This record gives sequence, structure tokens and C-alpha cells, in this order.
Amino acid sequence: MAKLIAMAGKGGTGKTTFAAMIIKELIDSGRAPVLAVDADPNATLCEALGVPMPQTIGMVREEFGKAADSLPAGMTKGQFFEYKLNEILVEEEGMDLLVMGRPEGAGCYCYVNNLLRGAVESLSQNYRYVVVDNEAGLEHLSRRTASHVDLMVIMSDHSVRGIRSAHRVIELADEMGLEVLKKLVLVNMIVGERSLTEPDQAVDQAVMAEAKRLGVDIFAAIPRDSDVSAADLAQRSLLELGAQSPAVAVAKKVLDYIDAETR
Ligand SMILES: Nc1ncnc2c1ncn2[C@@H]1O[C@H](COP(=O)(O)OP(=O)(O)OP(=O)(O)O)[C@@H](O)[C@H]1O
Ligand SMILES: [Mg+2]
Repeated sequence: MAKLIAMAGKGGTGKTTFAAMIIKELIDSGRAPVLAVDADPNATLCEALGVPMPQTIGMVREEFGKAADSLPAGMTKGQFFEYKLNEILVEEEGMDLLVMGRPEGAGCYCYVNNLLRGAVESLSQNYRYVVVDNEAGLEHLSRRTASHVDLMVIMSDHSVRGIRSAHRVIELADEMGLEVLKKLVLVNMIVGERSLTEPDQAVDQAVMAEAKRLGVDIFAAIPRDSDVSAADLAQRSLLELGAQSPAVAVAKKVLDYIDAETR
């Protein structure tokens, strides 16, 4: 069974960017095959991975709705969906990618999300790791993209509000009794010259004080990285980032941690 890593945190804190870093490190360290899942209706993980936007589960759902009465002879709905799923799965070196997308028009995401959860469950036996990039906020927690999560990576930016949002994610996941084995909070886009080896030296006192008040453990800090900004601006794949990137080093630390915890 694959280890499932899910991203969470408030908007713009670097969930997608760090998901790409984790996928990069998984591939580079020989932990492939990886299934990358873009569960954000506003899909951007494919861009971060340098993959053209593929067909999505949302699109398949639309097609499915239209074709429901005219399924190929002898095919059940379930078989047709599975066949379509394999068609939209993007296959890359060491990694496959599945994009949830959204329903056409103003429809609710629940149905597409249920399809995604089923797809992740049936596909995950083919991979060593599944990395799910989620939308900002708390809603994806209640939609439960996956039934069991080994590691939830909760991103915060370098702000008191970021820490409060991270805390809300932790609280809600606990309240809902989500099956999440480990949760790690990362503070991303640290500003200024600081020692980055220990979070309490890297992060401002105000942010650390809020984390302490709320009982939030900060696992690691990631500096604002000009290589990440440059790749983003040039729309280059983050998989091409050098191994010296501090974000990649943190991804390594995160993966070593979860591997040690889930041996
Ligand atoms: N460590 C970093 N150094 C420099 N820029 C970064 C870093 N992490 C993220 N960014 C930049 O911050 C912006 C937001 O990042 P990203 O899209 O990964 O956030 P997100 O949490 O996925 O956002 P959303 O909530 O909209 O999905 C992007 O322009 C990205 O390039
Ligand atoms: Mg994102």
C-alpha cells in the first residue's frame, strides 16, 4: 500500500510548490513510482511539474453524464470509468499524474471528489507514494480526498495568521477524527538572513510565540528561494530545480521523517 502524503494550509503558502518538491525528492532518491494527485479544483500542480494540463476527472464526469445511456456494449458504468481513468492518467518518468478538475458550470464538487477518492484508493496499490495537493482552506478536510493519510504537510507562511490557519487545520482534522498518522507544520518563505537549521532561529519571535501559545510544533522553515521564483516566472518545471535548493533539502527531511515513522 502506498504512503499517502497530503498538503494543507491557507492560500498561497506554497502547498503546490512544496508538493512538487516532495515529488522531485521522491523521484531523485529512487522512491518512485509516485502518483501525483491534483485535488485542487483550480489545478496548478501540473504546471509546477511541467506537465501540460491533462483531461480531468471533472471532464470524465461530464462525458460520463452525457454517455450514460450509450455505454460501449457490455461495459458497466464502473468499467467505463476505470477505462477513462486510465486514459486521463498522465505517465511521466517515475511519476503519474491525476487531476481532479471541477464540474462544468456551478455544480457541486462532491460527486467529482467522490470519484477522485475511489480512483486514489484503487490506483494507490500501484505506487510507493501518493502525493495529494489540495486547495486552500479547510473544506478539503471534510471532503476527505483519501480515507487514510500517512502524512499531512501543513504549510504556513512567515506570519502569525499563517500559524493560526495551520492550527485550525490541525484542530479540524482532530475534531473530525480524520485518520492522519502524522502532521507536520512548515513555515515557508522565511524572509531575511537567518540561520535556517533550526525553526526557532529562523522564524520571527512573534510567529514562534504564537506557535508556542497554540501548541503548534514547527517542523522546519523554508527560506524564500529565488530559484523557485525564477522557475515560477519562467513557467519551468520545479522538478528541474537543483538539489541545493533549500526547499528540496526540507522535502528530504520530511520524507526521511515519515519513512522512519512508517517503517
Ligand atoms: N520557498 C519559496 N520561495 C519563493 N517563492 C515561493 C516559495 N514557495 C512558494 N513560492 C511562491 O509563492 C506562490 C504561491 O505558491 P503556491 O502556488 O505553491 O501556493 P499554494 O499554497 O499552493 O497556493 P493556493 O492556495 O492558491 O493553491 C507561487 O508564486 C510560488 O512560486
Ligand atoms: Mg496550490
